[in-house]
Formats: sequence, structure tokens, C-alpha cells
Amino acid sequence: KQDGDQLIIDAGQKQFGATTCSSCGMVYSADNPEDNFQHTQFHQRFLDSIKFVGWKKERVVAEFWDGKILLVMPDDPKYAIKKAEDVRRVADNELGFQQVTLSRPTQAKTYLFINTERMVVGCLVAEPIRQAYRVLEQPDQQKDMTKDDFMERHRAWCCSTVPEQALCGISRIWVFSLARRQGIATRMLDTVRSTFMYGSHLTKEEIAFSDPTPDGKLFATKYSNT
Ligand code: ACO
Ligand code: ZN
Repeated sequence: KQDGDQLIIDAGQKQFGATTCSSCGMVYSADNPEDNFQHTQFHQRFLDSIKFVGWKKERVVAEFWDGKILLVMPDDPKYAIKKAEDVRRVADNELGFQQVTLSRPTQAKTYLFINTERMVVGCLVAEPIRQAYRVLEQPDQQKDMTKDDFMERHRAWCCSTVPEQALCGISRIWVFSLARRQGIATRMLDTVRSTFMYGSHLTKEEIAFSDPTPDGKLFATKYSNT
């Protein structure tokens, strides 16, 4: 119990003076010089990475009132490959992935969600796979978690040892922090299901998420059950 209280107090102190930049989404403390510096460093590089100037040839695979989804294939022109890489780097950075190279770059398809302000606000990398291990159900999350509960929760992330057939692996899915909970990830996945394999529509079961983060797990659970 005491540990829990202490954590809340610490979090409160860290939040003091916290600002969320309304264009890059970074949370930082404006009255801390080091934080300010970090933000300045991040801000322009981030906006450059997600800026979309428009391409001569765009493979538009879905259109919505608030944006469109482009598909980038491994043999596409350099400018398309480079933008896909830039956005993937931003996503990897946030996910804590170190390497930017893909396991099978010649087979990976990158889906980019471009909003009406010409920013890439969503990125999804899909790769063909043959089988996957289902992530086992985790028990309901407890509000006041002790250390043991925490361990239990992480153990519950274990995967089944029985491989199941899957056709499409989602190796990364990322949505710009200021554009989340607007159905962008959902629409990107729906688009993957209808365009990933030519001439067939994949079921939700035929899609597998690799190594989901807590956010990714919450999203994937919701997506699979609806
Ligand atoms: N907490 C709880 N439920 C969530 C969350 C969340 N953080 N995110 C999505 N959901 C559930 C909700 O039920 C949501 O519906 P609602 O908004 O009507 O309640 C439903 O999933 C659909 O969500 P979307 O709006 O389609 O998802 P979004 O566009 O916000 O993107 C994503 C979700 C990609 C996980 C985003 O939060 C993100 O980029 N996070 C940081 C990067 C990350 O962790 N990516 C997953 C890595 S795992 C992998 O790449 C294989
Ligand atoms: Zn900023």
C-alpha cells in the first residue's frame, strides 16, 4: 500500500509544470533547460520525418474524410522507400526498437496513414508469415497492484507453445500520439486485411501481432473481439 502511495507522489512531482507540445506531442517540462533542449532537438526532426509532400505515384489503398492510406512496396521509388523508413524510425524510436532494418525487407509492406494536414500520422509494417503463437489471455488487471501482481501480469504475457496458422504478421503499428483513439490503427488493419494478399480478404485470426507493447495489446485485444 505504502509503495503505491509513494509512486503516486513521485509521479505528481514529475508532472509538475509538464507541457505537451501541440505539434510534436512531446511531453516536457518547459521550466527545465535540459528538457527544453531535448524538445528543440526532437521537434523539428520529428516534424520533418512525418511531413508528407505528395508523390508523383501514390498507391492509395483507402480514402477517408480525414485522410488516406498509402501502401509502400519494397520495389517502389526511392522517395517512397525513404519516407517509409523515416516514419518507421520515428515509430521504432518510440517503441524502443534499436534496429531499423526489417527481418525480411523484400517482403514487407508498409502502410502509411496521411491526414488532411499532410502528415504521416500512422504507420504499419506487415510481413507474410506462416505461423504464430497466440498470446495467452491475461487475467483482469487489478487496480492496486502489488509487486507479485505485477510479475503475474507480465508472466501472463507468455505465448502459447502451440503454433497456429497465420498469414500476415504485424511487426509494427504506430499512430502519432496526438492522433490516437480516432480509429486510425483500426482502419489501417482493416485495410491490411483487404489488400495484403491479392484477391483474398484475411480474417482477424489470420493476422498476428509480433511482440505487442501494453498499448498494442490493449488495441489488439479490442480489435480481435469486435
Ligand atoms: N488503451 C486502451 N484501449 C485502447 C488503447 C489504449 N492505449 N489504444 C486502443 N485501444 C482500444 C480502444 O478500445 C479503442 O477504441 P475506442 O477509442 O473507441 O475506445 C480501440 O482499441 C481502437 O483504437 P484505435 O483508435 O483504432 O487505435 P489508435 O489509432 O489509437 O492506435 C496504437 C493504437 C497503435 C496502439 C497507438 O496507441 C500507438 O501507436 N501506441 C504507441 C506505439 C505502440 O505501442 N504500438 C503497438 C506496438 S505492438 C506492434 O507493433 C506489433
Ligand atoms: Zn514540439
